Amino acid sequence: MVEISPFPDQFVWGASTAAYQIEGAWNEDGRGESIWDRFSHTPGKTHHGDSGDVACDHYHRWPEDVELMKRLGLKAYRFSTAWPRIYPQSRNPLNQAGLEFYDRLVDALLAANIEPYITLYHWDLPQALEDEGGWGARDTAYAFADYAETMVRQLGDRVQHWTTFNEPWCTAFLGYEYGVHAPGWQDDRLALQAAHHTLVAHGLALQAMRAINATIKAGIVLNLWSIETVTDTPADRALVERAWQRDLGWFLDPLFHAEYPLLAWQAREAIAPTMQPGDLKLIAQPLDFLGINNYHRILLGSNGERVLPPESEYTEMGWEVHAPGLRRLLNTLHQRYPATPLIIIENGAAFPDEISADGAVHDPRRVHYLREYIGAVRDAIQDGVDVRGYFAWSLLDNFEWAFGYSKRFGLTYVDYPTQRRIVKDSGWWYAQVIARNGLEE
Ligand code: FCB
Repeated sequence: MVEISPFPDQFVWGASTAAYQIEGAWNEDGRGESIWDRFSHTPGKTHHGDSGDVACDHYHRWPEDVELMKRLGLKAYRFSTAWPRIYPQSRNPLNQAGLEFYDRLVDALLAANIEPYITLYHWDLPQALEDEGGWGARDTAYAFADYAETMVRQLGDRVQHWTTFNEPWCTAFLGYEYGVHAPGWQDDRLALQAAHHTLVAHGLALQAMRAINATIKAGIVLNLWSIETVTDTPADRALVERAWQRDLGWFLDPLFHAEYPLLAWQAREAIAPTMQPGDLKLIAQPLDFLGINNYHRILLGSNGERVLPPESEYTEMGWEVHAPGLRRLLNTLHQRYPATPLIIIENGAAFPDEISADGAVHDPRRVHYLREYIGAVRDAIQDGVDVRGYFAWSLLDNFEWAFGYSKRFGLTYVDYPTQRRIVKDSGWWYAQVIARNGLEE
């Protein structure tokens, strides 16, 4: 008999996607332009000039994709709603056709017994708002709260789990400091201002959402990683603390403690964001759960340099496969913020998949990755961490931002020229984990 190491009864097994990465139909049914349309249509910004114009054509193929989720036995599906489908011009008028798309999707998911988890912002800001200053402008936060309120008004009777932002770290730093994501600015001061405004927008949105419907469960999704050092000296520990504050604490501390972390604030004094009185209190709204995206750890040498151990395995993104880092991260979060349930909203790996002669997609490295990381989640739960769910990234191969279609993260292979979906071995393997509510030992 196979031995199963079980997960808690109510544990939520899901898969994740994001609007711009799968929907396509970028200019249909009244959808407005987003910063990712503008960015990917600008020569030189993405691999091969790829864009999300068509992507997985999910906007038209969503019934087939819901069927696919059923075949995998998913209990939940996390997707994002595209703001420019709802408010194409940034604010009014509202685009009814956009709302109806998500309405139909939610109804189909519920009919299939799959719980929808909605993220309101997965990087596709309406271009019209960017033209007014984007996340550098405080008004964008108010516009976001209006949009969030609209969505909860429309879907809150059927959708219980909501998150405001996906990875505001990426929005701020990749989009405004390094310029590798839309809107492509390279300005460190603007990046911190953008980060602050996403947090303000999060606080305003949670207030507005809960005022419409007090029964929803609301949170935010952060990209978090464990920070480790090769040796373990007092200097190493100080290094870890500084790195934690700079990247993770910069978001976690305002959200949980209504303050920016001191050392990181001092290091950034000259470029610190402008705030209004009450902002920090506004940001620190109670969270029903914290969503975590985790793919790899960060290992530092004694001078703070990034270390990539040669003996480790790496994914197509160059990310180290090191599942104990996830267990460590979950324990650290539990120690720092013990009262908040945690949900893994994204975890997965890109590998160079191909359709083999037998018509299947054999991806043993992804199976191995998922087994290790899901095992790390199980270990963390046994350590006493309150983890409520796990969502694999991603349901489908999709548009991987600046990398275009060159990185495949899916449980399902997408043959882009025909849009045919082929469940990979890892997808079938994951379906078994779900069916057994546990990992085979
Ligand atoms: C995360 C993003 C997601 C996807 C994965 C690989 O940072 O949230 O959209 O690109 O990485």
